[in-house]
Amino acid sequence: MSLQDLLGIELPIIQAPMAGVQDSALAIAVSNAGGLGSLPCAMLSPDALRRELATLRERTDKPYNVNFFCHTPPRPDARREAAWREALHPFHAEFGIDTDKLGAGPGRVPFDEDAADVLAEFVPPVVSFHFGLPSAELLARVRAWGATIVSSATTVDEARWLEAHGVDLIVAQGMQAGGHRGLFLSEDLGTQLDTLVLLPQIVAAVGVPVVAAGGIADANDVAAAMALGAVGVQAGTAYLLCPEARTSALHRAALRSDAAAETALTNLFTGRPARGIVNRLMRELGPMSPLAPAFPLAAAAVAPLRAKAEAAGSADFSPLWAGQNARACRALPAAQLTRALAGA
Ligand SMILES: Cc1cc2nc3c(=O)[nH]c(=O)nc-3n(C[C@H](O)[C@H](O)[C@H](O)COP(=O)(O)O)c2cc1C
Repeated sequence: MSLQDLLGIELPIIQAPMAGVQDSALAIAVSNAGGLGSLPCAMLSPDALRRELATLRERTDKPYNVNFFCHTPPRPDARREAAWREALHPFHAEFGIDTDKLGAGPGRVPFDEDAADVLAEFVPPVVSFHFGLPSAELLARVRAWGATIVSSATTVDEARWLEAHGVDLIVAQGMQAGGHRGLFLSEDLGTQLDTLVLLPQIVAAVGVPVVAAGGIADANDVAAAMALGAVGVQAGTAYLLCPEARTSALHRAALRSDAAAETALTNLFTGRPARGIVNRLMRELGPMSPLAPAFPLAAAAVAPLRAKAEAAGSADFSPLWAGQNARACRALPAAQLTRALAGA
Protein backbone atom coordinates (compact mmCIF):
# COMPACT_ATOMS: atom_id res chain seq x y z
CA MET A 1 0.00 0.00 0.00
CA SER A 2 1.30 3.47 -0.83
CA LEU A 3 1.98 5.99 1.93
CA GLN A 4 -0.62 8.22 0.32
CA ASP A 5 -3.29 5.51 0.62
CA LEU A 6 -2.23 4.52 4.13
CA LEU A 7 -2.40 8.07 5.48
CA GLY A 8 -4.91 9.71 3.12
CA ILE A 9 -2.38 12.27 1.85
CA GLU A 10 -1.34 13.36 -1.64
CA LEU A 11 2.48 13.37 -1.50
CA PRO A 12 4.80 10.73 0.02
CA ILE A 13 6.36 13.29 2.35
CA ILE A 14 6.15 13.39 6.15
CA GLN A 15 7.46 16.55 7.81
CA ALA A 16 9.45 15.23 10.78
CA PRO A 17 8.20 16.33 14.19
CA MET A 18 10.86 18.61 15.68
CA ALA A 19 10.40 19.53 19.34
CA GLY A 20 11.74 22.96 20.23
CA VAL A 21 11.83 24.40 16.71
CA GLN A 22 8.23 24.24 15.48
CA ASP A 23 4.60 24.31 16.46
CA SER A 24 1.35 23.69 14.63
CA ALA A 25 2.11 26.39 12.00
CA LEU A 26 4.65 24.22 10.17
CA ALA A 27 2.46 21.12 10.44
CA ILE A 28 -0.56 22.98 9.05
CA ALA A 29 1.42 24.32 6.08
CA VAL A 30 2.73 20.86 5.19
CA SER A 31 -0.61 19.08 5.61
CA ASN A 32 -2.40 21.70 3.52
CA ALA A 33 0.24 21.21 0.81
CA GLY A 34 -0.56 17.49 0.59
CA GLY A 35 2.20 16.06 2.80
CA LEU A 36 1.79 14.90 6.40
CA GLY A 37 2.51 17.72 8.86
CA SER A 38 3.67 16.70 12.33
CA LEU A 39 3.20 18.36 15.71
CA PRO A 40 5.96 17.53 18.22
CA CYS A 41 4.37 17.18 21.68
CA ALA A 42 7.32 16.12 23.87
CA MET A 43 7.65 19.57 25.41
CA LEU A 44 3.96 20.55 25.56
CA SER A 45 1.85 20.66 28.74
CA PRO A 46 -1.67 19.18 28.39
CA ASP A 47 -3.11 22.71 28.05
CA ALA A 48 -0.59 23.69 25.38
CA LEU A 49 -1.29 20.41 23.58
CA ARG A 50 -5.03 21.14 23.62
CA ARG A 51 -4.44 24.66 22.21
CA GLU A 52 -2.20 23.36 19.42
CA LEU A 53 -4.64 20.61 18.47
CA ALA A 54 -7.49 23.14 18.39
CA THR A 55 -5.43 25.32 16.04
CA LEU A 56 -4.68 22.34 13.81
CA ARG A 57 -8.35 21.37 13.65
CA GLU A 58 -9.31 24.94 12.81
CA ARG A 59 -6.70 25.48 10.09
CA THR A 60 -6.57 22.17 8.23
CA ASP A 61 -9.02 19.45 7.33
CA LYS A 62 -6.15 17.24 6.08
CA PRO A 63 -4.51 14.39 8.03
CA TYR A 64 -1.74 15.33 10.48
CA ASN A 65 0.55 13.56 12.92
CA VAL A 66 1.14 14.14 16.63
CA ASN A 67 4.45 12.92 18.05
CA PHE A 68 5.49 11.88 21.54
CA PHE A 69 8.59 10.59 23.26
CA CYS A 70 8.20 7.39 25.24
CA HIS A 71 11.35 7.13 27.30
CA THR A 72 11.30 5.79 30.85
CA PRO A 73 11.81 8.77 33.17
CA PRO A 74 15.17 8.26 34.87
CA ARG A 75 15.86 7.92 38.56
CA PRO A 76 18.03 10.90 39.56
CA ASP A 77 21.61 9.83 40.31
CA ALA A 78 23.23 12.24 42.79
CA ARG A 79 26.81 11.16 42.05
CA ARG A 80 26.46 11.53 38.30
CA GLU A 81 24.70 14.86 38.75
CA ALA A 82 27.55 16.14 40.93
CA ALA A 83 30.17 14.98 38.41
CA TRP A 84 28.25 16.66 35.60
CA ARG A 85 28.02 19.95 37.50
CA GLU A 86 31.74 19.76 38.20
CA ALA A 87 32.46 19.24 34.49
CA LEU A 88 30.37 22.32 33.66
CA HIS A 89 31.69 24.42 36.55
CA PRO A 90 34.37 26.28 34.52
CA PHE A 91 31.68 27.43 32.07
CA HIS A 92 29.30 28.38 34.91
CA ALA A 93 32.11 30.39 36.53
CA GLU A 94 32.77 32.21 33.26
CA PHE A 95 29.13 33.36 33.17
CA GLY A 96 28.77 34.05 36.91
CA ILE A 97 26.32 31.14 37.38
CA ASP A 98 26.20 29.50 40.82
CA THR A 99 26.58 25.77 40.05
CA ASP A 100 24.99 24.91 43.41
CA LYS A 101 21.79 26.82 42.68
CA LEU A 102 20.59 25.35 39.40
CA GLY A 103 16.88 24.92 38.71
CA ALA A 104 15.17 22.05 36.92
CA GLY A 105 15.87 21.90 33.20
CA PRO A 106 13.41 21.96 30.34
CA GLY A 107 11.22 18.90 30.87
CA ARG A 108 10.40 16.20 28.38
CA VAL A 109 7.53 14.06 29.58
CA PRO A 110 6.85 10.67 27.99
CA PHE A 111 3.42 9.98 26.51
CA ASP A 112 1.06 9.43 29.43
CA GLU A 113 -2.61 9.22 30.46
CA ASP A 114 -2.96 13.01 30.60
CA ALA A 115 -1.76 13.38 27.00
CA ALA A 116 -4.00 10.49 25.90
CA ASP A 117 -6.99 12.23 27.55
CA VAL A 118 -6.33 15.35 25.47
CA LEU A 119 -5.82 13.34 22.27
CA ALA A 120 -9.12 11.54 22.87
CA GLU A 121 -10.90 14.91 22.48
CA PHE A 122 -9.39 15.34 18.99
CA VAL A 123 -8.72 11.77 17.76
CA PRO A 124 -5.71 12.73 15.60
CA PRO A 125 -5.42 10.51 12.51
CA VAL A 126 -1.72 9.67 12.96
CA VAL A 127 0.25 9.29 16.21
CA SER A 128 4.01 8.76 16.12
CA PHE A 129 6.45 7.82 18.85
CA HIS A 130 10.20 8.18 19.36
CA PHE A 131 12.26 5.89 21.67
CA GLY A 132 10.02 2.86 21.23
CA LEU A 133 6.35 2.70 22.18
CA PRO A 134 4.25 3.54 25.26
CA SER A 135 2.74 0.83 27.49
CA ALA A 136 0.38 -1.69 25.92
CA GLU A 137 -2.57 -0.04 27.73
CA LEU A 138 -1.76 3.42 26.40
CA LEU A 139 -1.12 2.09 22.91
CA ALA A 140 -4.46 0.28 22.98
CA ARG A 141 -6.21 3.59 23.78
CA VAL A 142 -4.58 5.24 20.75
CA ARG A 143 -5.42 2.29 18.54
CA ALA A 144 -9.02 2.23 19.75
CA TRP A 145 -9.81 5.55 18.10
CA GLY A 146 -8.39 4.31 14.79
CA ALA A 147 -5.14 6.30 14.63
CA THR A 148 -2.33 5.08 12.39
CA ILE A 149 0.58 4.26 14.71
CA VAL A 150 4.14 5.13 13.70
CA SER A 151 7.52 4.78 15.42
CA SER A 152 11.21 5.13 14.57
CA ALA A 153 13.64 2.22 14.24
CA THR A 154 17.39 2.72 14.09
CA THR A 155 18.25 -0.99 13.70
CA VAL A 156 16.69 -4.08 12.15
CA ASP A 157 16.04 -5.44 15.66
CA GLU A 158 14.08 -2.33 16.59
CA ALA A 159 12.06 -2.54 13.37
CA ARG A 160 11.15 -6.18 14.10
CA TRP A 161 10.22 -5.25 17.68
CA LEU A 162 7.99 -2.41 16.48
CA GLU A 163 6.27 -4.68 13.95
CA ALA A 164 5.70 -7.31 16.65
CA HIS A 165 4.14 -4.62 18.85
CA GLY A 166 1.66 -3.60 16.15
CA VAL A 167 2.91 -0.39 14.54
CA ASP A 168 1.40 0.46 11.16
CA LEU A 169 4.39 2.33 9.73
CA ILE A 170 8.10 2.33 10.58
CA VAL A 171 10.45 5.31 10.21
CA ALA A 172 13.92 3.94 9.39
CA GLN A 173 16.08 6.62 11.02
CA GLY A 174 19.62 6.58 9.63
CA MET A 175 22.76 8.03 11.18
CA GLN A 176 22.56 11.23 9.13
CA ALA A 177 19.37 12.33 10.88
CA GLY A 178 19.22 15.54 12.87
CA GLY A 179 17.93 15.59 16.44
CA HIS A 180 17.61 12.69 18.85
CA ARG A 181 18.39 9.20 17.72
CA GLY A 182 15.33 7.07 18.31
CA LEU A 183 17.31 4.06 19.52
CA PHE A 184 15.60 2.14 22.30
CA LEU A 185 16.76 -1.50 22.39
CA SER A 186 20.47 -0.81 22.73
CA GLU A 187 22.53 2.22 23.68
CA ASP A 188 25.41 1.03 21.49
CA LEU A 189 26.01 3.68 18.84
CA GLY A 190 28.03 1.08 16.91
CA THR A 191 24.68 -0.44 15.87
CA GLN A 192 23.64 2.73 14.04
CA LEU A 193 23.71 2.68 10.22
CA ASP A 194 23.46 5.20 7.42
CA THR A 195 19.97 5.75 6.03
CA LEU A 196 20.46 4.01 2.70
CA VAL A 197 22.18 1.05 4.39
CA LEU A 198 19.58 0.68 7.14
CA LEU A 199 16.52 1.19 4.92
CA PRO A 200 16.76 -1.87 2.61
CA GLN A 201 17.63 -4.10 5.57
CA ILE A 202 14.50 -2.99 7.43
CA VAL A 203 12.37 -3.26 4.28
CA ALA A 204 13.58 -6.86 3.87
CA ALA A 205 12.98 -7.70 7.55
CA VAL A 206 9.41 -6.45 8.13
CA GLY A 207 6.05 -6.60 6.41
CA VAL A 208 4.82 -3.14 7.41
CA PRO A 209 5.54 -0.13 5.19
CA VAL A 210 8.75 1.81 5.88
CA VAL A 211 9.66 5.47 5.36
CA ALA A 212 13.25 6.71 5.27
CA ALA A 213 14.57 9.46 7.56
CA GLY A 214 17.99 11.05 7.76
CA GLY A 215 19.75 13.21 5.19
CA ILE A 216 16.74 13.65 2.88
CA ALA A 217 17.25 17.06 1.26
CA ASP A 218 15.73 16.97 -2.22
CA ALA A 219 13.66 15.02 -4.74
CA ASN A 220 16.66 12.89 -5.75
CA ASP A 221 17.07 11.70 -2.15
CA VAL A 222 13.36 10.85 -2.03
CA ALA A 223 13.66 8.91 -5.30
CA ALA A 224 16.74 7.04 -3.95
CA ALA A 225 14.86 6.07 -0.78
CA MET A 226 11.84 4.88 -2.77
CA ALA A 227 14.09 2.89 -5.13
CA LEU A 228 15.34 1.05 -2.02
CA GLY A 229 11.82 0.13 -0.95
CA ALA A 230 10.64 3.08 1.13
CA VAL A 231 7.01 4.15 0.64
CA GLY A 232 8.01 7.74 1.39
CA VAL A 233 10.29 9.86 3.56
CA GLN A 234 10.28 11.78 6.83
CA ALA A 235 12.37 14.95 6.43
CA GLY A 236 13.29 17.23 9.32
CA THR A 237 16.38 19.37 8.82
CA ALA A 238 15.22 20.40 5.34
CA TYR A 239 12.31 22.30 7.00
CA LEU A 240 14.37 24.21 9.58
CA LEU A 241 14.71 27.41 7.53
CA CYS A 242 11.04 27.54 6.49
CA PRO A 243 9.33 30.74 7.59
CA GLU A 244 6.64 28.63 9.34
CA ALA A 245 9.24 26.94 11.59
CA ARG A 246 10.07 28.53 14.97
CA THR A 247 13.81 27.88 14.53
CA SER A 248 15.63 30.60 16.52
CA ALA A 249 17.63 33.31 14.77
CA LEU A 250 20.86 31.83 16.19
CA HIS A 251 19.96 28.35 14.96
CA ARG A 252 19.06 29.74 11.51
CA ALA A 253 22.36 31.65 11.35
CA ALA A 254 24.31 28.49 12.21
CA LEU A 255 22.42 26.55 9.51
CA ARG A 256 23.33 29.21 6.96
CA SER A 257 26.99 29.34 7.99
CA ASP A 258 29.96 27.13 7.15
CA ALA A 259 29.59 25.63 10.65
CA ALA A 260 26.64 23.61 9.31
CA ALA A 261 29.11 21.38 7.47
CA GLU A 262 30.17 19.84 10.78
CA THR A 263 27.56 17.96 12.80
CA ALA A 264 28.10 15.32 15.48
CA LEU A 265 26.14 13.11 17.83
CA THR A 266 26.13 14.62 21.30
CA ASN A 267 24.55 13.71 24.64
CA LEU A 268 25.60 16.95 26.37
CA PHE A 269 22.33 18.82 25.98
CA THR A 270 19.81 16.20 27.15
CA GLY A 271 21.62 12.98 28.08
CA ARG A 272 20.61 11.10 24.91
CA PRO A 273 22.58 11.11 21.68
CA ALA A 274 21.29 13.64 19.18
CA ARG A 275 22.85 15.16 16.06
CA GLY A 276 23.58 18.87 16.00
CA ILE A 277 25.96 21.43 14.56
CA VAL A 278 29.25 21.33 16.48
CA ASN A 279 29.58 24.33 18.82
CA ARG A 280 31.81 25.41 21.68
CA LEU A 281 30.36 23.14 24.40
CA MET A 282 30.64 20.09 22.13
CA ARG A 283 34.17 21.01 21.09
CA GLU A 284 35.48 21.72 24.60
CA LEU A 285 33.85 18.81 26.49
CA GLY A 286 33.85 16.37 23.58
CA PRO A 287 30.43 15.71 22.04
CA MET A 288 29.72 12.53 24.06
CA SER A 289 30.28 12.57 27.82
CA PRO A 290 29.88 9.61 30.19
CA LEU A 291 29.14 12.19 32.90
CA ALA A 292 25.97 13.57 31.30
CA PRO A 293 22.97 12.51 33.44
CA ALA A 294 20.29 10.32 31.87
CA PHE A 295 17.74 11.85 29.47
CA PRO A 296 16.42 14.47 29.96
CA LEU A 297 18.23 15.41 33.18
CA ALA A 298 21.49 16.62 31.55
CA ALA A 299 19.62 19.69 30.31
CA ALA A 300 19.21 21.30 33.74
CA ALA A 301 22.87 22.28 34.23
CA VAL A 302 23.26 23.45 30.62
CA ALA A 303 20.06 25.56 30.55
CA PRO A 304 21.42 28.65 32.39
CA LEU A 305 24.58 28.64 30.25
CA ARG A 306 22.45 28.51 27.16
CA ALA A 307 20.24 31.35 28.40
CA LYS A 308 23.17 33.63 29.24
CA ALA A 309 25.04 32.89 26.01
CA GLU A 310 21.93 33.33 23.85
CA ALA A 311 21.16 36.66 25.55
CA ALA A 312 24.65 37.74 24.45
CA GLY A 313 23.96 36.57 20.88
CA SER A 314 25.98 33.33 21.09
CA ALA A 315 24.96 29.76 20.24
CA ASP A 316 28.00 28.32 22.04
CA PHE A 317 25.80 26.40 24.52
CA SER A 318 22.63 25.84 22.46
CA PRO A 319 21.56 22.54 20.95
CA LEU A 320 21.72 23.29 17.21
CA TRP A 321 19.95 20.11 16.13
CA ALA A 322 20.55 19.42 12.45
CA GLY A 323 21.33 16.48 10.21
CA GLN A 324 24.26 15.92 7.91
CA ASN A 325 22.29 17.58 5.13
CA ALA A 326 22.14 20.88 7.04
CA ARG A 327 23.96 22.74 4.32
CA ALA A 328 21.23 21.88 1.84
CA CYS A 329 18.58 23.77 3.88
CA ARG A 330 16.68 26.33 1.87
CA ALA A 331 14.51 29.13 3.23
CA LEU A 332 11.42 28.11 1.25
CA PRO A 333 7.79 28.25 2.38
CA ALA A 334 6.94 24.79 3.73
CA ALA A 335 4.32 24.10 1.04
CA GLN A 336 6.84 24.82 -1.71
CA LEU A 337 9.50 22.66 -0.03
CA THR A 338 7.04 19.78 0.41
CA ARG A 339 6.15 19.86 -3.29
CA ALA A 340 9.84 20.16 -4.26
CA LEU A 341 10.74 17.11 -2.16
CA ALA A 342 7.99 15.15 -3.90
CA GLY A 343 9.21 16.35 -7.30
CA ALA A 344 5.73 17.79 -7.84
C1 LIG B 1 15.56 20.05 15.24
C2 LIG B 1 15.10 18.63 15.28
C3 LIG B 1 14.24 18.21 16.30
C4 LIG B 1 13.75 16.89 16.30
N1 LIG B 1 12.82 16.53 17.25
C5 LIG B 1 12.18 15.32 17.14
C6 LIG B 1 11.04 15.03 17.94
O1 LIG B 1 10.59 15.84 18.75
N2 LIG B 1 10.45 13.83 17.77
C7 LIG B 1 10.89 12.91 16.85
O2 LIG B 1 10.30 11.84 16.73
N3 LIG B 1 11.96 13.17 16.08
C8 LIG B 1 12.60 14.35 16.19
N4 LIG B 1 13.65 14.64 15.34
C9 LIG B 1 14.15 13.60 14.41
C10 LIG B 1 13.26 13.50 13.17
O3 LIG B 1 12.10 12.75 13.46
C11 LIG B 1 13.94 12.77 11.99
O4 LIG B 1 14.38 11.50 12.37
C12 LIG B 1 15.10 13.54 11.41
O5 LIG B 1 14.81 14.91 11.32
C13 LIG B 1 15.42 13.01 10.01
O6 LIG B 1 16.67 13.45 9.57
P1 LIG B 1 16.92 14.86 8.82
O7 LIG B 1 16.90 15.87 9.91
O8 LIG B 1 18.26 14.67 8.22
O9 LIG B 1 15.82 15.07 7.83
C14 LIG B 1 14.18 15.95 15.32
C15 LIG B 1 15.05 16.39 14.32
C16 LIG B 1 15.51 17.71 14.27
C17 LIG B 1 16.43 18.13 13.15
